Amino acid sequence: MSGMSSTAYQLQDGVAVITLDNPPVNGLGHALRSHIVAGIDAAQADLEVRVIVLIGSGRAFSGGADIREFGSPKASAEPNLHTVIRIVEASQKPVIAAIGGVCMGGGLELALSCHFRVAVAGAQIALPEVKLGLLPGAGGTQRLPRVVGVETAVNMIVSGNPVPSEKLRGTALFDEFIEGSLLEGALKFAAKVVAEKRALKLVRDIRIDYPNHEAFFQFSRNTVAALAKNFPAPLKCVEAVAAAVQPFDEGLKIERRLFVELMGTPESRALRHAFFGERACSKIPDVPEGTPTRKIEKVAVIGAGTMGGGIAMNFLNADIPVLLLEMKQEALDRGVSTIRRNYENSMNKGKLTQEKLDRRMSLLSGTLDYEALKDADLVIEAVFEELGVKETVFRKLDEVMKSGAILASNTSTLDVNKIAHFTQRPQDVVGMHFFSPANVMKLLEVVRGAATAKDVLATVMALAKKIRKTAVVSGVCDGFIGNRMIEHYGRVAGFLVEAGASPQQVDRALEKWGMAMGPFRMGDLAGNDIGWAIRKRRYVEKPEVKYSKIADQLCELGRFGQKVGRGWYLYLAGSRDAIPDPEVDRLIEDYRKELGIAPRQIADAEIVERCIYALVNEAARLLEEGIAQRASDIDMVYLAGYGFPLQRGGPMRYADEVGLYNVVRAMRRFAAAPGGDTRFWEPAPLLARLAAEGKTFN
Ligand SMILES: NC(=O)c1ccc[n+]([C@@H]2O[C@H](COP(=O)([O-])OP(=O)(O)OC[C@H]3O[C@@H](n4cnc5c(N)ncnc54)[C@H](O)[C@@H]3O)[C@@H](O)[C@H]2O)c1
Repeated sequence: MSGMSSTAYQLQDGVAVITLDNPPVNGLGHALRSHIVAGIDAAQADLEVRVIVLIGSGRAFSGGADIREFGSPKASAEPNLHTVIRIVEASQKPVIAAIGGVCMGGGLELALSCHFRVAVAGAQIALPEVKLGLLPGAGGTQRLPRVVGVETAVNMIVSGNPVPSEKLRGTALFDEFIEGSLLEGALKFAAKVVAEKRALKLVRDIRIDYPNHEAFFQFSRNTVAALAKNFPAPLKCVEAVAAAVQPFDEGLKIERRLFVELMGTPESRALRHAFFGERACSKIPDVPEGTPTRKIEKVAVIGAGTMGGGIAMNFLNADIPVLLLEMKQEALDRGVSTIRRNYENSMNKGKLTQEKLDRRMSLLSGTLDYEALKDADLVIEAVFEELGVKETVFRKLDEVMKSGAILASNTSTLDVNKIAHFTQRPQDVVGMHFFSPANVMKLLEVVRGAATAKDVLATVMALAKKIRKTAVVSGVCDGFIGNRMIEHYGRVAGFLVEAGASPQQVDRALEKWGMAMGPFRMGDLAGNDIGWAIRKRRYVEKPEVKYSKIADQLCELGRFGQKVGRGWYLYLAGSRDAIPDPEVDRLIEDYRKELGIAPRQIADAEIVERCIYALVNEAARLLEEGIAQRASDIDMVYLAGYGFPLQRGGPMRYADEVGLYNVVRAMRRFAAAPGGDTRFWEPAPLLARLAAEGKTFN
């Protein structure tokens, strides 16, 4: 039993107890798989052993594959999961799975290969592979329907969601439910199996008796095809379960073929990338895990406007008290009542109970007095986007906040290093860039200033998890990761309209490709005046930057977007439907005439290429400058904050999928086209180098 603790294999009254022990969830890594095989072999050879129990250590049977081994040779090294399952199934002595806590993926497939299964109530049973764009590939699609029935199996495998064990009580998945200690109960059950000389039961031998299966599978195919348009896995999950009505080995072959097909799809690669990207982005190379964190028990928010209110709600939802500071009582009252109204709306939709609403509101207090902030552990500033205003606020905070408090700014565009130096404690200053609506959007950019202390970063990253955000670290630059890239995307969208596309065509092309919202609808939603203000500031400093002035002209007409009922589109009162507006078309035509541009037909594919490659090129610069720590962090920013299609895995992952060589070729084509902006389309050095070397970002 090399590498395993001596407790991982024990003999008790003729029962060999094999413990799955690989914290945190007993992932079936190579060492654990080898241990199971060694245990089964030892038990076969030992004349004293009559029966074998497989049980998990801690609070899991097994969570499935060990994700730490993903992509490494260890993941498939022998004994692989298929081998382990065959060996367990072929054991001459009965093998009993004792299931408690988490039993998922390969863990459930292993349990299904045992001759008997006992469980406690509350165990979480799932085959979640579909969430990675795959299907259970170690017999799960064939064995689960044989024990829980075809319909339940389709639901579980297509959704991937966990089902509590007690909901599956009465099915052939479980031979017995155990009250009290799982191990004791399993040992008692083992004694019964021996005493009654029970025959070894193999799930594979069960025949599915479901006369209506054809109609049911057809219904499932139709439903799943309509619901999972962008992902092939759910439909293949149905196909795999449909094969379970065939003889077992035939079905297993079909499962294998479908699994291999899914492994090769871009959608599965994207989902696996996002899964690991989510885990990677919480890691900061020079801030090791275990870096001490500061205690955050009370949060203060400065400014109760659009962002301040949403930010406050995040903490209230996580049961952390919030003190909201405003300049005037009316502004404070308005902010507090907006928060209450948001909660009431959730309650009316049945998403929140009155009790929870009361609890959250009781954690909220307001003040006009900075002195009241002195015992807050974290303060987040969300006042007007002007450096002078930020200066006043941070000087004041420096005076009143207790030592060790974290001072954060929600600025979108201002220099966090400058803000830090308005205080005598730049090490305690950090950017926390939330996205609107801040109580809904998953993304949080954590802006690391030149002086930001490591324990401040560690604290903010841990806090982000608590408030359920996807936190990505960004260095200091104008726009940080997300908005610096979106500026390039927006500029290209503007050029496309100048050149002949309509705003509707650009939006539609990108939405069809998968973006949640096209750039012009997005501008109308966020408020075109915000971009206008930024352009005025930014392009005064950089007059060499070229951009289409149509957006400015729109703003000069007061077309700020949804909030005024007109922007790139028209909006009827109370509706968010974007209606094309002939006045905007005329404005665009006049603008083209003035510049002597003869409009051309632009294909949707070209619109997508130009907009997405503009993102990719700027992202390559961010990576090279060290503003972003890794390519997958950029993908997480776009997936969590910008409505980028999950099935494409983020801009960097998408560029890798297309091939960087092809991305660079397209950019050179755009540069060489008549009127092409050679400077804009110059591939970033990192992109050019990776493309030349045949490499990828991720
Ligand atoms: N709106 C967005 O989409 C968005 C997204 C990310 C970040 N941000 C950033 O968040 C910050 C706030 O933006 P917003 O959209 O919530 O603005 P807002 O105008 O809705 O709210 C700002 C609030 O701050 C208050 N305020 C101003 N000066 C103050 C002071 N000295 N002390 C206390 N309160 C003061 C104002 O009364 C107002 O209620 C800005 O830095 C902005 O760049 C905005």
